[in-house]
Amino acid sequence: MNDQLSSFHALRTDEGRALLDEVRGTAPADELAVATRLRRTHPVELVSAALGQARLRQRAAAKFGAEDAERMFFTPNGVEQSTRTSVAAYRAERMRALGVTSVADLCCGIGGDALALARAGVRVLAVDRDPLTAAVARANAEALGLDDLIEVREADVTEVDTAGYDAVFVDPARRGGRGRIFDPEAYSPPLSWAVAAARTAPRAALKIAPGIPHEAVPAEAEAEWISDAGDVKEAVLWFGTGAPGGVRATLLPGPRTLEGRGLPDPAVRPVGRYLYEPDGAAIRAHLVAEVAEAVDGGLLDETIAYITSDTLRPTPYATAYEITDQLPFNLKKLKALLRERQVGTLTVKKRGSAVEPEELRRKVKPQGPHSATVFLTRVAGAPTMLIGRPAA
Ligand SMILES: C[S@@+](CC[C@H](N)C(=O)[O-])C[C@H]1O[C@@H](n2cnc3c(N)ncnc32)[C@H](O)[C@@H]1O
Repeated sequence: MNDQLSSFHALRTDEGRALLDEVRGTAPADELAVATRLRRTHPVELVSAALGQARLRQRAAAKFGAEDAERMFFTPNGVEQSTRTSVAAYRAERMRALGVTSVADLCCGIGGDALALARAGVRVLAVDRDPLTAAVARANAEALGLDDLIEVREADVTEVDTAGYDAVFVDPARRGGRGRIFDPEAYSPPLSWAVAAARTAPRAALKIAPGIPHEAVPAEAEAEWISDAGDVKEAVLWFGTGAPGGVRATLLPGPRTLEGRGLPDPAVRPVGRYLYEPDGAAIRAHLVAEVAEAVDGGLLDETIAYITSDTLRPTPYATAYEITDQLPFNLKKLKALLRERQVGTLTVKKRGSAVEPEELRRKVKPQGPHSATVFLTRVAGAPTMLIGRPAA
């Protein structure tokens, strides 16, 4: 057994559990003092393993919520690569709605997706080839009382028989030794393997990076981009949903789903009273036309995903701003205008501009009691600054 695995098992003994309770919530600044004290009565390796685990739990709270994270176990890679509960629960509910009651979770990591599936009542075979990761997934199933629904298997997914499961879920590793991997064929296992595995099951979902080019989506898949609180988290290729070629953007919390209708690109038109900034999931899903139609809008520039409209129409798929000024890109003019309006809090947004927001803020030195938003963008090709505020 390797050192990491034996340290992990030690954490699950009575002594390990007691230590974990004792170091819960230790602030980084106090770690040294706590470690020194505990090493007097406990083995050095166990104390460092407990402090390391406490640190990972604190980091994982953002994804899993503090209550679950405090009971779960993590590895550094496992925290990074796991699916946050909000997204995993949404996908699990969608699986349920498709009639799925059992899933082979191929590449389960520390169990982010498997746990959410089990909580939705789905039986899961969770597979990971890394011995420590598989042990952690097993411990998490037990910690959350879901081990009757989750079977964890330490194996290479390419050698697992998934016959008999209603669906296959694959979340390939997308990080190599040198960081994030962008080429889907460099994923482990490669996307082409995951697609082939998806084709063998009645239904399937493959989690991939949101930057995947649309051309790489197989014709029979439905592609979904998911954001949570405005941040795009992932893309999912669904198989067997009855919507081949479909495209959707789902916003969490909600969920609110915008379905693609294959609308042509919206026309470019002059700057109107409102600017709409579409949610990143709608942009990645190429559904800006669907959002523009919903707000009776057009584009500021044919290459940029800002929508302009004279109508204020609330939509979950975009944030509306009321535009007060339009200037050609010119920092002196912007500085003068902000001084005149006594703007001290400046939010900088940009699309199609190379200017760094921090650099701009440093140069214009906003001062005063008011706030404003400046959009650095192009209007019909010309570098432009639009000034406004969130629409009421
Ligand atoms: C992105 S993580 C999965 C995260 C998981 N969905 C979660 O929410 O916690 C990918 C995992 O795939 C595993 N993996 C990569 N290639 C594998 C293979 N051929 N067989 C089994 N597991 C593999 C890695 O060990 C890693 O834990």
